[in-house]
Amino acid sequence: MAPDASDPELRISAGAIRLRKGRVPVVCLTAYTYPVARLLDGHVDLLLVGDSVAMVLHGHKTTLGASLEMMIAHGQAVIRGSARACVVVDMPAGSYEATPRQAVASARRIVGETGCQAVKLEGGVTVAPQIAAIVAAGIPVMGHIGLQPQSVESDGGYKIKGRTEENVAALYRDAEAVEKAGAFSVVIEGTVETVAADLTRHISIPTIGIGASGDCDGQILVVDDMVGLTVDRVPKFVKQYADLRSVISQAAASYAAEVRSRTFPGPGHVFSAAADKDKERGGQRMSGDKNEWGQR
Ligand code: KIV
Repeated sequence: MAPDASDPELRISAGAIRLRKGRVPVVCLTAYTYPVARLLDGHVDLLLVGDSVAMVLHGHKTTLGASLEMMIAHGQAVIRGSARACVVVDMPAGSYEATPRQAVASARRIVGETGCQAVKLEGGVTVAPQIAAIVAAGIPVMGHIGLQPQSVESDGGYKIKGRTEENVAALYRDAEAVEKAGAFSVVIEGTVETVAADLTRHISIPTIGIGASGDCDGQILVVDDMVGLTVDRVPKFVKQYADLRSVISQAAASYAAEVRSRTFPGPGHVFSAAADKDKERGGQRMSGDKNEWGQR
């Protein structure tokens, strides 16, 4: 049965995530589509419609390929596919950096058109005015510090943060700025383990780690990495809990072989002139007046 996505009472709120600081770890995954949101909703506390969607589903080289329209379309699908998880939608590059006013307008559009619980944006000190303005407009914000994928081109690549004294000091300034601006939680990405653990102890909002520390208040992974669907290089910090690449590839090979040998479609996958004949064959999804086409 499709989840009742319309009842906000059923959802874990951003405020409830905020209260998890130092308690039971916050379980987060990215989700970009309706079916995946349906599969994950019962297992996680928070679903992030990350701008990683531009790379993972749309084949862009970086997250800079994400647009506001793309994020809204995927946000709507994830909201439709979930009923319980707190859904956070990423603000894409170019939608918030210019001014707090631009950030509020984009955040309002994302929340208004998707019904998500919060937005996420990358940066610390430099975007603190944007975070404060969005929060003042009544929209919860998740921060994102450490390695920031929207800045990899200007940063000269995917560089781990927290390896120099200067960099550690900047991370502290960013974490404090995001906390002070009113974010309900903050993602710490690609940061030296001990630094991420210390930052977690230093600030009062939950830290969500990715390539960070087991001491963070929660963890997040890109779902396609976690289930082994990623076709290119998988980052070191990812643990693969399944190998869906092999499953899909084997299924496609079996299908191709059966089509070529004319063993698919078999008798159970075609329609006869009389509807009851299909029933006799046990083709459940093919029979019945309303559902003969097999629609769910
Ligand atoms: O876009 C994304 O998927 C993210 C996570 C990696 C935190 O920002």
